[in-house]
Amino acid sequence: MSSLTPDQLKAQAAQTAVEFVQDGHVLGLGTGSTVHHFLTALGKRLQSGLRVRGVPTSQATASYATQLGIPLIDNDKIWDIDVAVDGADQVDPQLHLIKGGGGALLREKIVARAARQFIVIVDEAKHVSQLGLPFPLPVEILPFGWRTTQGHLETMGWLAARREQAGQPFVTDNGNFIVDLHISHIDDPASLESTLRQIPGVVECGLFVHMTSLVITGTEQGPRLTRAPQTSHP
Ligand code: A5P
Repeated sequence: MSSLTPDQLKAQAAQTAVEFVQDGHVLGLGTGSTVHHFLTALGKRLQSGLRVRGVPTSQATASYATQLGIPLIDNDKIWDIDVAVDGADQVDPQLHLIKGGGGALLREKIVARAARQFIVIVDEAKHVSQLGLPFPLPVEILPFGWRTTQGHLETMGWLAARREQAGQPFVTDNGNFIVDLHISHIDDPASLESTLRQIPGVVECGLFVHMTSLVITGTEQGPRLTRAPQTSHP
């Protein structure tokens, strides 16, 4: 019988991740409820004298980080990120991810790719034996010709639902739409990522393949650390 709520497990993972932050670090700051816990814990360490700078992956994260007094690096610098910390919607045994439940996948991928270490913080429920339904794969597409791009995705055999919010199309921080692809089993995430990127109008998809350095999972027994054998990071 579980005694910790999913939110408490997220907070546990987030607090563990903060221990990996060192003075002077440049941090990639992800998006979502788990990262919210991370930012809160990081803000407390800043009050005790820790100095870091952050690259936010969404307007929501930028706004909360600013509120906490975390200095942010502007867009015109080449980002040299020590550690990026982000949540995920699904994690498979190879530590490949589905991300984008919050619609921030494009900025999250840019920031994760610019980081020497990519730490993923999740509660136990995010671990799956194979990526795919019940969580649909978010794909960011341009509004220009969006129905045609959606049609290309549908002809590949998937239900491709444009995401809505309060009866309106969901619009990302980049001014794009999200289409949620209903794929029951993603057998080859790397090949699917490459296939999706070749469709004109697709900006990015929520598959993060060979990017994760470390997963910190909040569990009933305490935080569990799972390291990737190798990553494609520089
Ligand atoms: C944001 O677009 C997502 O990639 C989030 O990182 C992901 O949905 C995890 O969110 P939670 O931490 O809220 O579960």
